[in-house]
Amino acid sequence: MCFILRVMNILIIGSGVIGLSTAFELALAGHRVRVVTRNYEEGTSWVAGGMLAPFSEGLKGSLLNFSMDSLRLYPDFIGRLEEVSRIKLFYSRSGILRLVLNESEYHEVKKNAEAYSSAGVNWEELGGEELSRREPLLSSEPIAGFLFRDEGNVDAEKLMDALLFACENLNVKIVIDDITEIVRSGERVEEVKGYRDTYRSDFYVFTTGAWSRSLLKVPVYPVKGQILKVKGLELDKVYYSSVSYIIPKENHMLIGATSEDAGFDSRTTLEGVSSLVNGALRIIPELSKAELLGVRVGFRPATPDEAPIFDAGENFAVLTGHYRNGILWAPASANVALELVEKGKRSEYFSLFSPNRLGTF
Ligand code: GLY
Repeated sequence: MCFILRVMNILIIGSGVIGLSTAFELALAGHRVRVVTRNYEEGTSWVAGGMLAPFSEGLKGSLLNFSMDSLRLYPDFIGRLEEVSRIKLFYSRSGILRLVLNESEYHEVKKNAEAYSSAGVNWEELGGEELSRREPLLSSEPIAGFLFRDEGNVDAEKLMDALLFACENLNVKIVIDDITEIVRSGERVEEVKGYRDTYRSDFYVFTTGAWSRSLLKVPVYPVKGQILKVKGLELDKVYYSSVSYIIPKENHMLIGATSEDAGFDSRTTLEGVSSLVNGALRIIPELSKAELLGVRVGFRPATPDEAPIFDAGENFAVLTGHYRNGILWAPASANVALELVEKGKRSEYFSLFSPNRLGTF
């Protein structure tokens, strides 16, 4: 069989996990890819918790389906990325323990878990006694736990490093510029203008995350998250609760995360730190002896209904608004772009996540 690849010039605007994953997959498929970014270290993805946790997060409907698609794509995505970047990633598939702290939370999480069963999701309920027997580090506050075995955990910082290395190895050009204007004629993008230059390409992918609003006129706004990096306990899984999530990585842990309506205020605050410390100690008291390595801030790209915004025209796609799940949704988002560029196939997610659902803005 003879397969002729039409090599396209692709311009990706934005270098968070969605932009870089899309750049990686398109470059791997043989296209000539450039990424324009104001600052490739600015993306929220660098400070993400990296939980692959749609069930612990209680996602439903098309968000659940999209998450499950992405979870299925994850092992191969990691495999390709490790091979091309030559970086060994931290990718754990040992599940996430969703802890519940009171009766009403218990009923909600249990109802969600039962609904997930019909989608083939594997989970186990641990009642109070069983929970303290199996998890001796836990405080007495959690009344039950739901172990979602199919959930995972990736080191997002390392993932971002690997994406940059892989892109470099695939000759993706990273251009530093701040894109301020999109010149369109109807359903086509003619060019994009930045402070330093004007860029033309066969195809454009806009992955501008929390900063999308001014360029794309879409209702995406930043939700600030502070997260702690600590060291000192060896944990074998993620402990997810409504007051904190404790996320072990290879040589450290992350404790997340605040959710603040504070615009792009990048300051770390004592209020944020104390709420994270208290939230973590309420779950694992022994963490009081952990060493604090740092406090970091990111801006989740939120939308009014917490679903992403996908849009496509003749020669462009918009993939933004990944809110709390950018790391989880990266492989499926890149795949949506790949299918569009390679096969002209418009994934059903373009209609499910269309900006039209949000009315005029
Ligand atoms: N996905 C967890 C968070 O955004 O805090």
